[in-house]
Amino acid sequence: MKIEKPIPNSILISESQIRNRIQELGNQITQDYENQELVLICVLRGATIFFADLVREISLPLRFEFLQTSSYNDSTEPSKNIEFIREGSNYVKQKHVLIVEDIIDTGQTLEFLIKHLQSLEPKTIKICTLLDKPSRRQFSVSVDYIGFEIPNVFVVGYGLDYSQKYRNLPYIAVIESTDENTS
Ligand code: IMP
Ligand code: MG
Repeated sequence: MKIEKPIPNSILISESQIRNRIQELGNQITQDYENQELVLICVLRGATIFFADLVREISLPLRFEFLQTSSYNDSTEPSKNIEFIREGSNYVKQKHVLIVEDIIDTGQTLEFLIKHLQSLEPKTIKICTLLDKPSRRQFSVSVDYIGFEIPNVFVVGYGLDYSQKYRNLPYIAVIESTDENTS
C-alpha cells in the first residue's frame, strides 16, 4: 500500500494553547488600536484560520483586506522572486494597517509586502504573526505581535501547509523530514 510521507507526527502547539494565545493577542490589539481606524490584512492562504479566529477576539470596528503572493526560485539567484496573485489593498491610505501572517521564516515575503503597502501611504503598518522562526531570518523586519516563537522545524496545521495539505489540522504539528521512499 502506498503511504504518503512525510507525515505530521508530533504536536508542537495544541488547540488550547493556540486559543489562549489568540485571546491575549486580540486583547492587546484591541487596547493598542482603541479609537483608531484599523485595517487588518490577511495574507492568503496560510493566515486564513488564524485571521478568522483573531478577528473575533478584537473588539473594534475594523475592516478586512486580503492579499496573496506567490514566490518562485530563479536558479540564478539565491533569493526568491515574489509577486502578487491578489492585491486588494484599496483602503489602506491614511489608515492603520495590521498585516496578519501565518509564519515568518526568512522575512522576505514580509519585506515585499511592507514595501508595497508603504507605497500606499498608510498611517502606520504593524505585523502580527502566529508563528515566528527567528533563527531563519535573512531580511530584517520588525514584528509587533507574535503568537509563538518556534525552532527551525517545518510545521503544518492551523492554516499552514506542506504541498497544500494539512491546513485543516486544528493544531500545529511538526513534519518529520524523511529520506525514506515508501512503497
Ligand atoms: P519567508 O518569505 O521566508 O518569511 O516565508 C514565509 C512563507 O514560507 C510563509 O508564509 C509560509 O508560506 C512558508 N513557510 C515557511 N516556513 C514554513 C513552515 O514551517 N510550514 C509551512 N510553511 C512555511
Ligand atoms: Mg504564507
